Amino acid sequence: MEHYRFKTVVFLLVQLLSVRVMMGQNSYDLMAYVVQWKSTFCKTNHCKRVPLDTFSIHGLWPANATGHSMKCPQGAGSDVDTLMKKDRKLETALKAIWPNLLAAGNDRRFWKHEWTKHGFCSNKSLPIVAYFNGAVMVHNNLIAINNKNNLRDYLAEGGVRPSTANTYNKQVIITAVQRLVGANNNVYVACKVDSHNKNVIYLKEIHLCLDTTLRNFVSCPTANPDLRECGNHTSQIIIPV
Ligand SMILES: *[C@@H]1O[C@H](CO)[C@@H](O)[C@H](O)[C@H]1NC(C)=O
Ligand SMILES: *[C@@H]1O[C@H](CO)[C@@H](O)[C@H](O)[C@H]1NC(C)=O
Ligand SMILES: *[C@@H]1O[C@H](CO)[C@@H](O)[C@H](O)[C@H]1NC(C)=O
Repeated sequence: MEHYRFKTVVFLLVQLLSVRVMMGQNSYDLMAYVVQWKSTFCKTNHCKRVPLDTFSIHGLWPANATGHSMKCPQGAGSDVDTLMKKDRKLETALKAIWPNLLAAGNDRRFWKHEWTKHGFCSNKSLPIVAYFNGAVMVHNNLIAINNKNNLRDYLAEGGVRPSTANTYNKQVIITAVQRLVGANNNVYVACKVDSHNKNVIYLKEIHLCLDTTLRNFVSCPTANPDLRECGNHTSQIIIPV
């Protein structure tokens, strides 16, 4: 019995080690699924005429155990063209949830930037096909469920509504998002300070953390200090319309 247990432990250890080695230096611990509040982005950027009262994807960013985005060699943007030419259905799905908001912007150019800078860091375990299909899968299977279609809907359910008059502190926003990701899972909130008045803070992004299979929400590590411009816990954050 003891012997059997020992062998099992050794077996598991070897398995664990081989996974680490296989993933080599590109190993990542979690994926940040970063969505941006369009209205805030479009305050300081010249955007296309699209509804601004929803979140759209900024990127999927492989991160290490402390929640820091991985730094890695750049991938090839041409791989994005190859994939999208092959899979028009995927491209159509991505256009809806991961658009380039810039008036002069092209969707593929945005995806190429995100792939070369971030996505490629997880290429070893999540090659380009799995990376972009994963973005759609997370949206369909984890976010657009229970008659809700956007993170905006979960915030509204938690009493957090876009408005130029209302403000919310960070914890209230986090608690509302936890209706989706689970009460024990931390999320990151990123803000943008108004360029004319540093006391005015806008909601910029929400970072949801996923495991490396992109199938489950996990907690965004709290070890990562808050450097996302939301000020202190008492700061009042505006979610502009
Ligand atoms: C994660 O990345 C940050 C920034 O590159 C680094 O300082 C930190 O040591 C890394 N943490 C782990 C656990 O790898
Ligand atoms: C990315 O991963 C795929 C699948 O594992 C592999 O075929 C490809 O060579 C990798 N790309 C680079 C540039 O390493
Ligand atoms: C926290 O934010 C409030 C409101 O902006 C400010 O008055 C206060 O000085 C801040 N406290 C600290 C410790 O930064």
